[in-house]
Amino acid sequence: MTDRLAGKTAIVTGAGSSGEGVGNGKAAAILFAREGASVVLADRELERAEETLALIEAEGGDAFAIAADVTNADDCAAMVRAAVERYGRLDVLHNNVGVSTRADVTEVTEEQWDHVMAVNVKSIVLASKHAVPEMKRNGGGAIITVSSIAGLRANSSAPYTASKAAVIGLTKSMAGDHGRDGIRVNCIAPGLVYTPMVAPRMDDDLRRIRRQAAPLGTEGTAWDVAWAAVYLASDEARWVTGVVLPVDAGLLTTTPVTYNRLGQQRHGGPGAR
Ligand SMILES: NC(=O)c1ccc[n+]([C@@H]2O[C@H](COP(=O)([O-])OP(=O)(O)OC[C@H]3O[C@@H](n4cnc5c(N)ncnc54)[C@H](O)[C@@H]3O)[C@@H](O)[C@H]2O)c1
Repeated sequence: MTDRLAGKTAIVTGAGSSGEGVGNGKAAAILFAREGASVVLADRELERAEETLALIEAEGGDAFAIAADVTNADDCAAMVRAAVERYGRLDVLHNNVGVSTRADVTEVTEEQWDHVMAVNVKSIVLASKHAVPEMKRNGGGAIITVSSIAGLRANSSAPYTASKAAVIGLTKSMAGDHGRDGIRVNCIAPGLVYTPMVAPRMDDDLRRIRRQAAPLGTEGTAWDVAWAAVYLASDEARWVTGVVLPVDAGLLTTTPVTYNRLGQQRHGGPGAR
């Protein structure tokens, strides 16, 4: 490792994983610590954040776990306060938290809609409201948001797609508002990544179809998404703000129907002649 985040304090929201294995938040927290950051591991479920903490401490990294529901304004204030009390500064806020509900507009309940929008969008506003003043005090910082390719294309879930599109709008708005304070705000749009969040809905066939959908033809993991977060958090990205970075094996660059057919023919999949 290269200490790309040495001396920085980072908050990762949703720093645990919703199931066995490594999700995007857990992977980002581990890589941030490996790169020298002190990491605040925030999760609604404290035990999940503590699992990540144990992994970081086993590698000699510096972190602590805190229970915070980032849809709650008081929890967000307390999370930022705890970071500054413990480490004296805040440099990076990684807004990783996100949930999905598979429903179109005829199916989704008002409660489901409000929940998805609160977790995926409002949480970023509430956490950033308290993080921005602390970053300003240091002369700048980096805020990262997590959208999805579903924020750029329909994805069988109206509330998820709408919320992830809103994350992109919010990112650009914040990048414009806080650039002169030295605060960069960038968005990662993960593709069809295999993580604990999606694993319960997957069988081998679906994993193969997802893998074959994109030009690279390989399965993405939380580590692929987390490396993008390391870059955007680091000073190496000092001149980058307001961008949406797809981490998707090239899925967004292609026209799916045409490409899938050709890809399968070339690689001996179901459409091969
Ligand atoms: N896995 C994929 O294929 C994929 C694709 C695109 C985007 N994403 C995005 O990646 C992000 C997270 O993925 P992940 O793999 O870490 O998910 P995950 O479900 O494994 O982990 C999320 C963590 O967030 C916590 N959490 C949920 N609601 C919370 C709240 N209100 N306050 C605090 N913590 C809360 C959960 O307890 C859990 O530990 C999400 O924004 C998701 O939409 C994932």
